[in-house]
Amino acid sequence: MKTTLLLAALPAATIALPTWPWNKPHGHNKPLKYSGLDVLAKRAGLKYFGTAIDNVVLDNPTYISIAHNRSEFGQVTPSNGQKWMYIEPVQNKFNFTLGDQITVPAKKKGQLRRCHNFVWHNQLPDWLTGRNWTKPELVKVLENHIKHEAKHYYNDCIAWDVVNEAFEDDAVASLRKDIWLDVIGKEYIELAFKFARKYTKPGTKLYYNDYAIERVNNKSRAVAALVKDFKKRHIPIDGVGLQAHYTVGRAPSYDEQLATHKLFSDLGVETALTELDVRIQLPDNATLQAQQGAVYANSTKACLDADDCVGITVWDFWDPVSWVPSTFPGFGNADIWDANFTKKPAYYAISDLLRSYD
Ligand SMILES: *[C@@H]1O[C@H](CO)[C@@H](O)[C@H](O)[C@H]1NC(C)=O
Ligand SMILES: *[C@@H]1O[C@H](CO)[C@@H](O)[C@H](O)[C@H]1NC(C)=O
Ligand SMILES: *[C@@H]1O[C@H](CO)[C@@H](O)[C@H](O)[C@H]1NC(C)=O
Ligand SMILES: *[C@@H]1O[C@H](CO)[C@@H](O)[C@H](O)[C@H]1NC(C)=O
Ligand SMILES: *[C@@H]1O[C@H](CO)[C@@H](O)[C@H](O)[C@H]1NC(C)=O
Ligand SMILES: *[C@@H]1O[C@H](CO)[C@@H](O)[C@H](O)[C@H]1NC(C)=O
Ligand SMILES: *[C@@H]1O[C@H](CO)[C@@H](O)[C@H](O)[C@H]1NC(C)=O
Repeated sequence: MKTTLLLAALPAATIALPTWPWNKPHGHNKPLKYSGLDVLAKRAGLKYFGTAIDNVVLDNPTYISIAHNRSEFGQVTPSNGQKWMYIEPVQNKFNFTLGDQITVPAKKKGQLRRCHNFVWHNQLPDWLTGRNWTKPELVKVLENHIKHEAKHYYNDCIAWDVVNEAFEDDAVASLRKDIWLDVIGKEYIELAFKFARKYTKPGTKLYYNDYAIERVNNKSRAVAALVKDFKKRHIPIDGVGLQAHYTVGRAPSYDEQLATHKLFSDLGVETALTELDVRIQLPDNATLQAQQGAVYANSTKACLDADDCVGITVWDFWDPVSWVPSTFPGFGNADIWDANFTKKPAYYAISDLLRSYD
């Protein structure tokens, strides 16, 4: 197996060798012709293995050939193209160009689409943030936006991230103080889900999506409380997206992630890893890359073993276009293909783990 070869090439003393079944042969393993991650993920029982794609890289033919290779990625999520500032840059004037640049080729290639997102505190247009609204006005703005975007992507989305990152990172995970909370109050969240149910195609999975909820902690418990309350009051919600932006050396373990999937699946919603990446504090080296692979494998295994984890999306697959270096100076190489479009140990760690479930 590729992982074994790569690990064998490293100085043994410095490597924490992963202890998982993922690098051990399974009795029922059949010899498998080489297959991409989505093919293997489906054989292992997931609905998809997917990637986010950003518009900045659409002119790179090598990138595109991998991004829209259905054997590797059975699902595609626009990284930015469906965010409010691009979709409704002027009030009630909708521009779907950037979203369509990702979804149209994906559809042609037979890749599913996760859609991202309707409501967030970030990447909002100036017309929205630059003035004061009354509550009824802003509720109308919210409904109008969801209505038009949902209608345009009506036949496109297996899932929508309806509300993104509504909780703060403070100790008690209070609701994020943003324009939505300030003007509408906490019911903006349920209004967004109700509008999403009203305007999206029946069957579209409606997700709450957030980061730092991949362990059972105050923030994930706050999200669970929200889900529980929604279920009780029949507010539509179908899934919780664990963004899964991890760091080598600080990532939640397999057990911690499995417990978190269960926290949500016990409430009757599905889960997914929606933005998986594993950043490395630079400079990179082979040991760190092996550890990164183990984090990707643990995350994949937790999703496979969870009751209702439907799929995994990496938040881009190619290191040079990752959001990490600009957001976390000193960190990088978070993805599974390197700058030369070579598959990294992390790729093989995922691939071997998936094969072990075949
Ligand atoms: C798609 O990916 C698979 C798996 O890596 C590979 O075998 C195949 O050659 C790729 N197809 C194209 C057209 O690049
Ligand atoms: C829509 O967005 C695209 C991409 O940003 C831009 O090139 C185009 O000019 C916009 N169209 C309109 C009518 O503003
Ligand atoms: C919004 O309202 C606040 C408080 O009434 C006021 O200070 C501020 O200037 C207003 N902002 C705009 C853009 O009108
Ligand atoms: C979690 O929230 C409780 C209050 O509900 C607080 O006492 C505790 O310090 C918080 N834990 C962390 C790790 O911040
Ligand atoms: C993977 O998960 C296992 C079990 O929870 C844990 O012991 C191990 O340290 C994790 N590995 C990494 C690299 O996080
Ligand atoms: C890799 O980097 C880590 C973190 O800086 C360091 O502890 C380790 O010794 C390095 N390993 C190798 C083989 O260079
Ligand atoms: C890409 O290939 C070049 C030329 O072989 C090499 O110098 C460079 O280190 C490689 N980059 C990575 C990230 O492996």
